[in-house]
Amino acid sequence: MIIDGKKFAQKLKNKIKKEVQSIKNKTKLTPGLAVIFVGHHTPSEIYVRKKQISAKEVGINFKVLRFKNSVTEKKLILGIQKFNKDKKIHGILVQLPLPNHINNQKIIGKIDPRKDVDGFHPINVGNLSSGKDALVPCTPLGCYLMIKSVRKNLAGLSALIIGRSNLNGKPMAQLLLKEDCTVTIGHSKTKNLKALCKKADIVVAAVGRANLVKGDWIKKGAIVIDVGINRVEKKKGYKIVGDVEFKSVVKKVRAITPVPGGVGPVTIACLLSNTLKAFKSINLLLSK
Ligand code: GUN
Repeated sequence: MIIDGKKFAQKLKNKIKKEVQSIKNKTKLTPGLAVIFVGHHTPSEIYVRKKQISAKEVGINFKVLRFKNSVTEKKLILGIQKFNKDKKIHGILVQLPLPNHINNQKIIGKIDPRKDVDGFHPINVGNLSSGKDALVPCTPLGCYLMIKSVRKNLAGLSALIIGRSNLNGKPMAQLLLKEDCTVTIGHSKTKNLKALCKKADIVVAAVGRANLVKGDWIKKGAIVIDVGINRVEKKKGYKIVGDVEFKSVVKKVRAITPVPGGVGPVTIACLLSNTLKAFKSINLLLSK
């Protein structure tokens, strides 16, 4: 089974759109998402544009506050504080990467945790890791939802997460631990990753190494989620591939996400879902 990320995201967005519409009818309020964007990083330009199109599709208001590459931390913090106070904004996201002279953690720490739709604020990180309700980072949340769509009960399964980033690997581990999986986090220094992978019922690859995971690394019937987005050169131009060698791995799995068209679209749908969740918690509407 190949999990079609575009279809999966569309279903999620349809649900969000209905709920946003019903909120608008009942309360005359509209959820709002603000993005803080520094510089001209080309992939970020593309991501932010996609976020904007998707927000519009489901009826969520969208604002971008742009800064030059030379912006100071002080100015960025003022921008965040403005959105923290803004009653029409329920989600705030600082698009990464930020320039080197900016301390990411310092900036993210200034976001009102209730509006932290990326789930990067220490309060949300702490709540997730202690099993409390939290805003969860969008990519691992999307991976989790796709895994659950294939198999509801994950208790006792062994999961290998390749990659230990704060954005993906660590929150992914927390989500699967909460499902009673036995979780291993592998990374660039891990010895014999292949042997670990061969034992895993669930593999989430998020290391950023093109085609690292091969067919003979995979246990038959595993669920494989590929978070990688790697550019590889072709004779003419380049193509995007994941961390998983799709051709050889697809033959072994129960389910797999392709790249592109797998995790990417679902991540954006989860951002909208987090914005709706933030809106409801700020306005004390009961979550369904
Ligand atoms: N840049 C790449 N991925 C992400 C993400 O998930 N959130 C933010 N804010 N920036 C990113």
